[in-house]
Amino acid sequence: MSTYGSFPGARPRRLRTTPAMRRMVAESRVHPADLILPAFVRDGIVEPVEISSMPGVVQHTRETLKKAAAEAVAAGVGGIMLFGVPRDEDKDATGTCGTDPDGILQVALRDVRAEVGDDLVVMSDLCLDEFTDHGHCGVLDASGRVDNDATLERYADMARAQAEAGAHVLGPSGMMDGQIGHVRRALDASGHVDVSLFAYTAKYSSAFYGPFREAVGSSLQGDRKTYQQDPANGREALRELALDLEEGADMVMVKPGLPYLDVLRDVAEAADVPVGAYQISGEYAMIEAAAEKGWIDRDAAIMEALTGFKRAGASMILTYWATEAARRL
Ligand code: PBG
Repeated sequence: MSTYGSFPGARPRRLRTTPAMRRMVAESRVHPADLILPAFVRDGIVEPVEISSMPGVVQHTRETLKKAAAEAVAAGVGGIMLFGVPRDEDKDATGTCGTDPDGILQVALRDVRAEVGDDLVVMSDLCLDEFTDHGHCGVLDASGRVDNDATLERYADMARAQAEAGAHVLGPSGMMDGQIGHVRRALDASGHVDVSLFAYTAKYSSAFYGPFREAVGSSLQGDRKTYQQDPANGREALRELALDLEEGADMVMVKPGLPYLDVLRDVAEAADVPVGAYQISGEYAMIEAAAEKGWIDRDAAIMEALTGFKRAGASMILTYWATEAARRL
């Protein structure tokens, strides 16, 4: 018997021979329009403030935010998600500045819409944690527990304020029960029927949010474990998905990204709406820090992570590298 028969009958390596071949047969690819840039805008500053745990990301002034939005448009980025950082003295127990038409997030929404019009999908975080003095995503009851239904009323007020300021899409991220339905009804009743809801459907209580808390100057005491999901649970994400879809979510999100690719896959298979993945602050920080130490190829690691989200089923990816990655693509 010749040795010929013992050679491999199948050679998957043929499709890996050249860059052109690999590019042609790639099952997933990242397109600039898939990317959404999360951006922070801080009230009362004249120069952007660096976020030490997120090198390369800043708290924008109103002016530099407009510039960042214009750069995102030029790079072909799909959308921008705005987070407002109020002055410490403007924070209170119910997050009043989150609903004030002159609050930083509403002001920034008007600025960005004036700058980009409809060329970029303009989104805003719909949550109270940036605006409350206790740092929780909702209002507290007398015993200090986050009061679900009282919080829904505040979210309805926020939704109207953000829609009036020009947001195309609102991203309710507080994980209160019924938030999508309640906000949808408030928007419809106030004539904002075309404002979309991008539900943070499966949002886990994660240690990887650490740098974000610096980014928004959060004053959180305690944790969010009574409202955000337990990292141990996957099936629960499908229950949250069913509820969000029933309540009227236009798009759904899984967050964080890399530690939850299994959840992303499950949600992408079960959802009949676009699915987003949020590559969060801690994921950003880990790659930047390892790269700074020379332990990892930064650019390759970024693209590999973004491609992984697409492979797992994401239609869109929120990433702090959105503009940079879009330029490279
Ligand atoms: C809540 C919110 C958080 C993030 C986005 N929206 C923080 C939290 O739930 O504690 C985290 C984003 C990131 O870490 O990049 N408004």
